[in-house]
Amino acid sequence: MCGIVGYIGPREACPILLKGLHRLEYRGYDSAGVALINNNGNLSVYKSKGKVADLENHINDKDISGTIGVAHTRWATHGEPNTTNAHPHYSQSGDLALIHNGIIENYKPLKQEMMNQGRTFQSETDTEVLIQFIEYIKEEQGCDLFTAVQLALKNVIGAYAIVVIDKSNPDRLIAARKGSPLVIGIGENEFYIGSDATPLIEYTNKVIYLGEEEIAMMTRKGDLQVVNLENVAQTPLVKTLEMNLSDIEKGGFPHYMLKEIFEQPDALLNSMKGRLNTEEKDVLLSAIINHRDRIMKAERVIICACGTSWHAGLIGKYIIEELTRIPVEVEYSSEFRYRNPVITDKDLVIAISQSGETADTLAAIQLAKDKGAFLYGICNVVGSSIPRATDTGSYLHIGPEIGVASTKAFTAQVTTLMLIAMAIAKEKQTISKEYFHQLVDELQSIPEKIRRILELNDKVAKYSKIFTYARNFIYLGRGYNYPIALEGALKLKEISYIHAEGYPSAEMKHGPIALIDEEMPVVVIAPAHSKYEKILSNVQEIKARKGKIISIITEGDTAIKELSDIYFEIPSTIDCFTPLLTIVPLQLISYYIAIAKGRDVDQPRNLAKSVTVE
Ligand code: F6R
Repeated sequence: MCGIVGYIGPREACPILLKGLHRLEYRGYDSAGVALINNNGNLSVYKSKGKVADLENHINDKDISGTIGVAHTRWATHGEPNTTNAHPHYSQSGDLALIHNGIIENYKPLKQEMMNQGRTFQSETDTEVLIQFIEYIKEEQGCDLFTAVQLALKNVIGAYAIVVIDKSNPDRLIAARKGSPLVIGIGENEFYIGSDATPLIEYTNKVIYLGEEEIAMMTRKGDLQVVNLENVAQTPLVKTLEMNLSDIEKGGFPHYMLKEIFEQPDALLNSMKGRLNTEEKDVLLSAIINHRDRIMKAERVIICACGTSWHAGLIGKYIIEELTRIPVEVEYSSEFRYRNPVITDKDLVIAISQSGETADTLAAIQLAKDKGAFLYGICNVVGSSIPRATDTGSYLHIGPEIGVASTKAFTAQVTTLMLIAMAIAKEKQTISKEYFHQLVDELQSIPEKIRRILELNDKVAKYSKIFTYARNFIYLGRGYNYPIALEGALKLKEISYIHAEGYPSAEMKHGPIALIDEEMPVVVIAPAHSKYEKILSNVQEIKARKGKIISIITEGDTAIKELSDIYFEIPSTIDCFTPLLTIVPLQLISYYIAIAKGRDVDQPRNLAKSVTVE
């Protein structure tokens, strides 16, 4: 969702800010803006609807001088996406400018109060209310900006990551956060700010993740002061970023999504590194080793997640139940948080989130924490809110995922859930030693098998073009591949805008079969496993109604292959690991259909990479 960049130091700020905005484009946005304190002392705010490139065109002939500034990409929440509602927002006097991620929930009464004080508003945003309120406090109390920000934030309900600049003090940048992440990069007498680390990475690897309800003041001399809302000094922890610039560039691929699909073999190896030990035939997860008693005592697992991460959770349910016999429930975080669920201190709640910032998942785990459950996070973004809010967890270690449609994070989430299931099963001895060893060996071979599937790339590209005519798709899968049917359908919807639905194969005859005619593409996920014969019958039912069959089958299959219009073969594996293979051709199918339809695959319309609002 919205993106934040800030800079103070000896260099020209504008090129740094604009480059930072480009780095944040993957998060999804509809307008962009920049504020600079120019060399002549003016505070200039430039904004434009659309892409960062539109903003660049807009400021072509403007004064963009200055060594302090803030910039923002906005994903509309309060007020339509237009130039007026774009950030930064000025205060009434024009002396202050603010950028903001998050939502100020009590903005309406605050706005009324400010209007009663004679303040006027240009935009419909909650953000403009906040900067007016900060300025009001500053003037009323005669205090400095740092104090005014603290006092204002004490009266704010909601979530925020903000950065403020003040024309009358061009040597100081102020930032604060609650609920929305903010990263401060430390250079030589200079500071960079980002809503995540991607805008900072090419300048510094020394970062501070600002804590909840902390306010930071950075000066041109290189001083950094961090306090909480009660004005108590905080000691910020300086961390070293593990990302490289190559992690956030396309590396020769036309899109991040394709790059990330191709990164999966290495990504999964990284996720398994140090955790899957094929020599000793063991699975070692530090989270489980460090909290062994608490995790082994769990009488139930509840998985909370959204979207693709929820699909990973569903596969997690199948494998955890199969291997450990612990009952597992998989919840949409947004439903769980509001439906007064039964949670006890015997529950292990696993929160899955690529970004680690999804507002609904954060709220769900907060609820579970209040009821005494033990919280385990599976996240990708290091230092994000969910890992900090959980008792323990496992990072995916796959580098940044920039394409909005999640690909490598999904397979890494599934892999991590498999490792968790295997580690618990071993400890509880719910599976035989022989089967455990077989699982270890087979999991190790999955990255290489994915590499082989990626060789299908050209075939997928060629055949996907045929389906640009389709207005609907059906995806069918059974058992471990039912969640893959859901995920395959979601991938197609997100980036091609073709309507698609996933079903458990046997459900087809309870309704969806009515949709099948000669125009309907039906993707059948049918790797060889115990229920193969049942899927074969489903395929025959589709064929009898002239549906177009696209199948994902195991090498050596003949029966479904013969019935298919197009088939993609994958190497064989143990049933529970098939989702890690079957999803790969589906990711490629979505990608190539979207490309053939001319879609913006990395930034599909209306979507955001990090859903920080509910
Ligand atoms: C789909 C997709 C979304 C996310 C969902 C949860 O490709 O990316 O459905 O999976 O918004 O996001 P995280 O995993 O960051 O909590």
